[in-house]
Amino acid sequence: MAYLEWSRACTARVRESHVKALGARAQELAKRLARDLDAGELPFLRMGYVETLKRDMPAIVEKTRAYKHMLVLGIGGSALGTRAMQKAFAREVDMPGHGGHEGRQIWIADNVCPATLGDWFRLLDPAKTVVVTISKSGGTIETISQYFLAREWLQKALGESWKDHMIVITDENKGFLREEARTYGLDSLEVPDNLGGRYSALSAVGLLPAAFLGIDWEALLDGAASLAKPLVDNPASLADHPSMALAAWAKALEEYGYTDLIFFCYEPLFATYGPWFAQLWAESLGKEGLGTMPVPATGVTDQHSVNQMFLDGIRNKACLFVTSASHADGPTFPATLPEGWQFLAGKPFSCLLEAEALGTRMALSMHDVPLVQICLDDASERSGGKLMMLLEIATVLTGWLMGINPLDQPAVELGKRLANARLGKPGYAEEEACLAAYLQTAENRQAF
Ligand code: PA5
Repeated sequence: MAYLEWSRACTARVRESHVKALGARAQELAKRLARDLDAGELPFLRMGYVETLKRDMPAIVEKTRAYKHMLVLGIGGSALGTRAMQKAFAREVDMPGHGGHEGRQIWIADNVCPATLGDWFRLLDPAKTVVVTISKSGGTIETISQYFLAREWLQKALGESWKDHMIVITDENKGFLREEARTYGLDSLEVPDNLGGRYSALSAVGLLPAAFLGIDWEALLDGAASLAKPLVDNPASLADHPSMALAAWAKALEEYGYTDLIFFCYEPLFATYGPWFAQLWAESLGKEGLGTMPVPATGVTDQHSVNQMFLDGIRNKACLFVTSASHADGPTFPATLPEGWQFLAGKPFSCLLEAEALGTRMALSMHDVPLVQICLDDASERSGGKLMMLLEIATVLTGWLMGINPLDQPAVELGKRLANARLGKPGYAEEEACLAAYLQTAENRQAF
C-alpha cells in the first residue's frame, strides 16, 4: 500500500498547528475544485480526454510499429514526462545490446543543440524513423524550427512519403502545427483544451512515445485515475486527499522561509521524475515573488554530491523523499568477502539502497529538514502514474493556497519575445528597441 509518512514533516520552525490550519482551508478549495472541474479547467484531473485517446491512439501506435526509431520534437512539458517514463519503464533502451520491443529507440530533441540535431540527422536512417512533433500551442519556436529541419531531412530522403513519417500532437483546432497537419494530411493526436504542457504527460504527449516503447500506458492512466477519481466524483472529499495535506505543508514551508524543496528520489528508476517535477513545481508556483525552488536529487548518487549542502548549508530546505516499498534484489554478494566487508556477504545488492535511504532520511530529519516521505508500492507504471497525479494535484492546490494561478507561466514570455525580436520576427518593435538599448550598454569583460 503506497503511503505518505508525516512524522518528520514538522519541526520547531514549521508548526504542525499551522499546517493543520492551512489544511482546514480544504472546504474552501473544494468549492473551487468543483467549479473548475465543471468549467473544464482541470482536464489533467478530470481525465475526460482518456476515452478519445483510447479510441484514437492505438491505430497510430500500430503505424509507429513499422519504425525502429522515434525522434520526439518537443520542449518543457512536451518532453520531460516522456523522458521520465522512458527512463523508468523502458530502461532497456539505454542498455548494452538493446533488443527489447524489437530494438525500438526514442530520441528526445528538447533543446536547440545544433550538434545533437545534426548528429541525429546523420546517424538515423530516415526510412526507419518516425518523427513526432509535440506542441500544445503549436507555435513554440524551438519545436517548430526542429520540425522544419526534420521535415526537410525526411523529404530529401523519402520524397512525398515524408508525410508517413511525421505525426503531430497538438491542439485539436488551433495553431501552426494543426494547420500543418491539415495541409499535409499528417497523422495527429490532440492535446485537450486547457491541458497545459506540464500537466500533459499522461495524455498523447507522453503516452504515444510510451506506447511506442512498449510501456504499459494504460496502467499509467489507471494509477493516475486511482488518485483523481475520488476527487472528481466528490470534490468535497478534498480534506482527506493526500494532495491537500501536501499542499498545506508546502504552503506552510514557504511561510516559514523554506525557499527550497528537495525532491530526493530514492527509487533510482524514477530519478528522471526529478526534472519533470522541477518544471511542474517551478513553472506553476514561481509567481509574484512567491514559491519554493524545486531541487531534484537522486539517491544514493547525490549523497556524494549535493547532500552536504542539504544537511548543513543554509537552513532553507525541506524535502519530499520518494521511495518504493519493493525493489528488484539485484545481484547477491558472494558468501565470502575480504575482512571488513563480511557484513555484506550473501546479502542482495538492494540492501545498500534500503540502508542508505533510511540513513539519509534520518540524517535530514536530524538536521531539522522538514521531510515528507512518499512511499510507492513499487516502480511500476501504475505507481508512476499515481506519483504524477499526486504531484500535479498538490501543485495546483499549493498555488491556490498561495493565491496565484498555477496553470500559467507569464514571466517566461519576456525572454521568448526578446529572442523573437533578435531573430527578426515581425511584430516585436518594442522588444527590438529594448534589445538595441541593452546591446548598447558597455560590457565589462574579463578574459580567462
Ligand atoms: O508547461 C508548459 O506549459 C510549458 O513548459 C510548455 O510545455 C512548453 O513551453 C512547450 O509548449 P508547447 O507544448 O506549446 O510547445
